[in-house]
Amino acid sequence: MTTLSTYLNNATHTDNATAVSNVILTIADVGKNISALLRRGALAGILGEAGNENIQGESQKKLDVIANDLLLEALSSNPNCAGVASEELDNSTAASADGSLLVLFDPLDGSSNIDINMAVGTIFSILPYNNQGQSAVDDDFLQNGDQQLAAGYLLYGASTILALTLGHGVVMFSLDPDSGDYVLIKDNIQIDKDTSEYAINSSNHRYWLAPMQQYIDELVAGKDGERGRNFNTRWVAAMVGDVHRILCRGGIFMYPYDTKDAKKAGKLRLMYEANPMSFLIEQAGGASTDAINRIMSIEPTNIHQRVPVVLGCENEVNRVRDLHKQHNPA
Ligand code: AHG
Ligand code: MN
Ligand code: MN
Repeated sequence: MTTLSTYLNNATHTDNATAVSNVILTIADVGKNISALLRRGALAGILGEAGNENIQGESQKKLDVIANDLLLEALSSNPNCAGVASEELDNSTAASADGSLLVLFDPLDGSSNIDINMAVGTIFSILPYNNQGQSAVDDDFLQNGDQQLAAGYLLYGASTILALTLGHGVVMFSLDPDSGDYVLIKDNIQIDKDTSEYAINSSNHRYWLAPMQQYIDELVAGKDGERGRNFNTRWVAAMVGDVHRILCRGGIFMYPYDTKDAKKAGKLRLMYEANPMSFLIEQAGGASTDAINRIMSIEPTNIHQRVPVVLGCENEVNRVRDLHKQHNPA
């Protein structure tokens, strides 16, 4: 049996391996608390609205705030962590000036699932901190996804799963509720290049750009259309759940640009949703794009910036990108 701590002790992939391991263990420990709260659900008083909005104008659920506070508190007292940025915090928060790492997180992904007892998750991304000795500020976080030293998610589903990459493949652990250990269940996860399963919220169809409409229309037409075979839809309404399914059995996940609110580049956030998930998917042999450019190559300008996301099995992701390029030749 390999536990998370044994795995991390043996992993010497990054320059900063001990610090990275330490921060991952802190996040995984908080995950146990969030998982325990979710298991008690209504009995723990964690359901419902918090009664305020985050910087992105989204109303916060009680558990968004609780999960954020737990992660913030735990990471702030980890000496390796120089600062944190979160979906639920307007600005980044400086932690230990001598720390060598920055941590970005979506404390609770899939908030609309909390009150209906469905899967939710926590997404995290770990970046190097390049100004050690000084107090970290927002600008320090503005590094592209290729700089990530590690990334992963916790999925609070029927069981609690931790998926992780240190840049050398993807591994998965399952939380043993009896021992409290994260136990390795899958090593070197790889996904196929092709798939017949796709995830998208089709209620936005009329707001999508023409190439996205064309791509989905072809999938819906199935064996009677251009593609000559049938496709199936799955939508968890929590990116963690959809990405987990893709890592388990393939697929393509899309939250594309839409004109519902033309000011927003997409729904999902680059730095604590798209980048960490792209890192996992690429490490599993998949691809990730904003429909034109590779997501992890995007130079961020704001810690909360949004981005269209298309990720999963390579051949389908490339098809979406190619359709967009045909419509907008450079
Ligand atoms: P969050 O709960 O952190 O705001 O993220 C929710 C995101 C993502 O997880 C999911 O794929 C998507 O929003 C669901 O959007 P719809 O409600 O439009 O289906
Ligand atoms: Mn989210
Ligand atoms: Mn969230």
